[in-house]
Amino acid sequence: MTKPIIAPSILAADFANLEREVKMINESVADWVHVDIMDGMFVPNISMGLPVVEAIHRHSKKPLDVHLMIVQPERYLEAFHKAGASVISVHIEACPHLHRTLQQIKSLGCQAGVALNPHTPVQLLENILTDIDLICVMAVNPGFGGQKFIEGTYKKVRQLRQMIKDSGSKALIEIDGGVNLQNGAPLREAGADVLVAGNFVFSASSPQDVIRQLKAIG
Ligand code: DX5
Ligand code: ZN
Repeated sequence: MTKPIIAPSILAADFANLEREVKMINESVADWVHVDIMDGMFVPNISMGLPVVEAIHRHSKKPLDVHLMIVQPERYLEAFHKAGASVISVHIEACPHLHRTLQQIKSLGCQAGVALNPHTPVQLLENILTDIDLICVMAVNPGFGGQKFIEGTYKKVRQLRQMIKDSGSKALIEIDGGVNLQNGAPLREAGADVLVAGNFVFSASSPQDVIRQLKAIG
């Protein structure tokens, strides 16, 4: 088995020291920087906007994995691409025309991701799997970092892994929310490719050690 892709979530970083936090990620074995965008509409919280993403991008040597927790995300795809996103994920619950939205993301040259809330069945993706580069399985209700991992996630990951295999899709499975060293290994066994971790990384005394440990899960 290859190593997991590790994406520290900048939401849990010290926003007054973003340059330092991004440099910490640059010098770690992390693969991506996960960037959570919240609009106070799709989710109850507001996080950061385009100028902050641009600033992160200016300092980051790792690709930005931008998770849009916003209504009508199609209105902002080009702006986030210009701000430096490499991967853009939209929520299926916010996209009545998901196929079109994914094509828009790809036409910008970005990887196209779809995020699923905890209650959303993975089967909804069945007819669109080969159009997706990344499936972000939410393991908490989106809107806040530092929440408890929802155990029902494992079943969804196992189902998705089987669906991906059957369809021939190349989509990666990303887990977002409550990821730590305890659930990391069973998530990998269930079929996860990408582990997002916010609080678990940034609340550690050595975030780089934690990133290394997550990467070493195998
Ligand atoms: C939650 C966000 C997550 C969050 C993860 O809405 O999408 O990316 O930053 O943070 P932790 O790892 O602390 O649950
Ligand atoms: Zn996220």
